[in-house]
Amino acid sequence: MMIYDIPGKESQKEFKRIQKFIHGLGDYHKEAEEAKRKGHNPPAQMLVGKTQGDFIYDLDGNEYVDFHSGWASNPVGNANPEIIEAVTDAFTKYGFTYHHPLQEELAEKVAAITPNQALTRASFEISGTEAAEAAVSVALRYKNRPLIISFSHAFHGDSLGAKTLSAITIDRKINLEAWRGGVIHVPYPITYDLPIDVTPEQYVDYIIWYIEEFICGMVAPADSIAGILLEPMLAEGGSWTPPVSFAQKLRKLCDKNDWLLISDEVLVGLGRTGKTWAIEHSGVQPDILVIGKNITGGIMPNAMIMGTEAAMGSNSARSGSTFAGSPAGCAAGLKTLEIYERDHVIAYAAALGEKALKRMKKWETEFPSLVSNVRGTGLLLGATILDKEGKPSVETAAAVQNEALRRGAYIINDTESSIRLYPALNMTEEHLDRGFTIIEEAFRVVSKDDYVISSWPRYFTTQ
Ligand SMILES: Cc1ncc(COP(=O)(O)O)c(C=O)c1O
Repeated sequence: MMIYDIPGKESQKEFKRIQKFIHGLGDYHKEAEEAKRKGHNPPAQMLVGKTQGDFIYDLDGNEYVDFHSGWASNPVGNANPEIIEAVTDAFTKYGFTYHHPLQEELAEKVAAITPNQALTRASFEISGTEAAEAAVSVALRYKNRPLIISFSHAFHGDSLGAKTLSAITIDRKINLEAWRGGVIHVPYPITYDLPIDVTPEQYVDYIIWYIEEFICGMVAPADSIAGILLEPMLAEGGSWTPPVSFAQKLRKLCDKNDWLLISDEVLVGLGRTGKTWAIEHSGVQPDILVIGKNITGGIMPNAMIMGTEAAMGSNSARSGSTFAGSPAGCAAGLKTLEIYERDHVIAYAAALGEKALKRMKKWETEFPSLVSNVRGTGLLLGATILDKEGKPSVETAAAVQNEALRRGAYIINDTESSIRLYPALNMTEEHLDRGFTIIEEAFRVVSKDDYVISSWPRYFTTQ
């Protein structure tokens, strides 16, 4: 198997040029020198030169199977030419104008595919972050109550407001402690949080008890809470699928207490999990859906919330911004949905997800000391990576990511002890298999007794 010497010459040159301009981009050269001094591998890095379909190419021309998909935002492949054409047409026709007919067209199309076609009111945003915040502000206004419940491990965005709603890593909370006033965080049922001998179902019951008895009994009265902001499956928190009873029991709690149930489907919505909406796996009706990423077709920013007539029909909560629901953004959404329908993209993703998971499950037996908790629903795929002591390890997961990158597969590891895979929903089986073969080679390399993890492999790529 070919091993890329990355960053290659062109990428290195570009890193050197840009690193002093971009906030948060690691100083590659310092990292590489430090690694060399310690006798470690330098962190694997590359800069994207071009993207196409299931692949990305770095500035040095190396090819990578893309399991990153622009943070799960390219549902029908990178730089999809049909979506580019639709967006170009919209630019040519409308440029940017605030009032245009494509918003209504897209709102009508999305309303028709919401659960039970019950979410008929749309509000447009630019990003998933804005959309999550908009959903919360709608709920607070509609219920005329000040508080919202959200979950551990949740990620709803990186703005000031969305950071307070999220609970993914503590470094995102530094100096924000005083800003989270209206948010009550409760546990999310992921495997690694389960106390010993407690089943996922029992943990769900505990969380329901915690909300009902502890939160509503001792922290805040139920009638001060407007609703629950739920990721029906955890996306950035590590590709986890909770028991179906979780959303079902939360729905009951919402009905009992007159709360809204908001399903944040920014990453898991529009087919990622093999159904149109992730919450459909539990048969639960949300009051508001938060939509982003896939609705852009990977080409033009767009996001929206869809709500019931009751919640949003005459709600005076304001959201949105100048460029929300732009003509080009809506054109991207409309073309994406047209491709979904024509090519049966979601059914294909469900079938590909089953094949993917079948192969991934073998990783647990082939690499028992490195890989555990292989998981997936549709193409929301993930696996926990263990260190030599058998503990989930962010550093070892990053090492797997690095070694996969060196061999031509671009996978995700961010701040969690997992790797995550977000192939395009229409990735070919051949490309998926090729990527998996590379990932398996990365497992083999990192599993070796004498493998040394790079000094600090946290800085990578161009994101
Ligand atoms: C569940 C969820 N909500 C909101 C967001 C924020 O979306 P964006 O980055 O488009 O603002 C994300 C991003 O990953 C997400 O996964």
